[in-house]
Amino acid sequence: MADSKTATLTFDDKSIELPVRSPSAGPEVIDIGKLYAQGGVFTHDPGFTSTSSCESEITFIDGDKGELLHRGYPIDQLAAKSHYLEVCYLLLYGELPTAAQLEDFEARVTNHTMVHEQMHNFFRGFRRDAHPMATMVGVVGAMSAFYHDSTDISDPWQREVASIRLIAKLPTIAAMAYKYSIGQPFVYPRNDLDYASNFLRMCFAVPAEEYIPDPILSRAMDRIFTLHADHEQNASTSTVRLAGSSGANPFACIAAGIACLWGPAHGGANQACLEMLREIGTPDQIPEYIARAKDKDDPFRLMGFGHRVYKNFDPRAKVMKESADEVLDLLGVENNPTLQVAKELERVALEDSYFVDKKLYPNVDFYSGIILDAMGFPTAMFTPIFALSRTVGWISQWKEMIADPKNKIGRPRQLYTGATYRDYVDIENR
Ligand code: SDX
Repeated sequence: MADSKTATLTFDDKSIELPVRSPSAGPEVIDIGKLYAQGGVFTHDPGFTSTSSCESEITFIDGDKGELLHRGYPIDQLAAKSHYLEVCYLLLYGELPTAAQLEDFEARVTNHTMVHEQMHNFFRGFRRDAHPMATMVGVVGAMSAFYHDSTDISDPWQREVASIRLIAKLPTIAAMAYKYSIGQPFVYPRNDLDYASNFLRMCFAVPAEEYIPDPILSRAMDRIFTLHADHEQNASTSTVRLAGSSGANPFACIAAGIACLWGPAHGGANQACLEMLREIGTPDQIPEYIARAKDKDDPFRLMGFGHRVYKNFDPRAKVMKESADEVLDLLGVENNPTLQVAKELERVALEDSYFVDKKLYPNVDFYSGIILDAMGFPTAMFTPIFALSRTVGWISQWKEMIADPKNKIGRPRQLYTGATYRDYVDIENR
């Protein structure tokens, strides 16, 4: 639909007409691209609370309705009826695959799951107790030193190969980071296993005995991957887009995304949330922590609560909560004390006016840690699992940006409040 609507910005003696762009869903946007040239002013929006950074067709979030769509399909239907590699195809190519297309895609991913043998030596440079996210940032960034034939971003075929390599190899690298941290030998991927089962086996198999993934655990693992696959222009995706806008190779861009995701306000929240639930320990300790979360003088926040966009429930948290019940029931730990604290904390918080008024609901990180903990993962592996899941979202958004002929390097400006022009003062005169 042609955009003809405009917005008028009036200040001082200026009146500037700015085009208004219409979305297929969500808020309209005022295109301020020519504002500085026409009005000599910048807009100012630290944290980008009111700023659209790009045009995209991949993922849509309605924070008020608690809705998350991937290429138009709602996340609860994808989590229930689809599986991670099919969602990867959908995010990358825009449509659900036919059976033949899916079979071909899965075969391409399966045949790229091994990493260059020399990358094994790379791990040996890290301390054993290094956080697996530190290892992943290093090793994924180093992929550009091993896969030169898929770093020319101007070649659509190389962009495609790099995308498949990243989706295929991130689970192998994450599993290697885990094995290295516990002093166990690396486990090679197997082509006869599905994506989630392969990851579980690479994490939990040992040479002394085979590991047969339980189908329910594999399904839960696959669902966790799906629930984390993409999420519009979040901090790490915006990092990948900004890095990619300079023409950096895809491996370096994904390494930048991993580094950003690590923060406790973002993907690091799943580890921080489980550590918080353990620190709370028992339901009777909850009121003290709720009080701390509300205390402006206390930096403590309820990890796993709140979201920049969702001001209603996070649809992923709903599915994750159902999965938590399933997995803990299977493992016979339905009375898991951490789960009891989580459910009571959610109940108490959602009755408290502070959280209701500020629209702070459990987010995707609130329940995921409980499932991963019950499956046997240490908390340090929670964010690496988020990172391997989100790789398809990052690379889909990166591909969309690079393929856009209007793409240009991202270069924000600033509100400068520092010292104005002044001459240098020699040290004897200071
Ligand atoms: C992810 O963007 C994405 O899509 C991210 C993600 C994805 O899939 O990529 O969804 C994944 O990162 C989920 C979020 C995980 N982070 C956490 O669970 C950490 C705890 N949450 C908070 O740090 C916070 O809620 C954020 C960072 C998630 C959102 O921050 P905002 O939108 O910038 O909100 P804010 O900091 O402006 O807070 C608004 C108010 C403040 O109070 P006032 O200053 O208005 O009085 O709400 C308060 C905050 O103090 N608040 C909280 C709180 N979160 C916000 N108070 C207590 N506990 C919290 N968790």
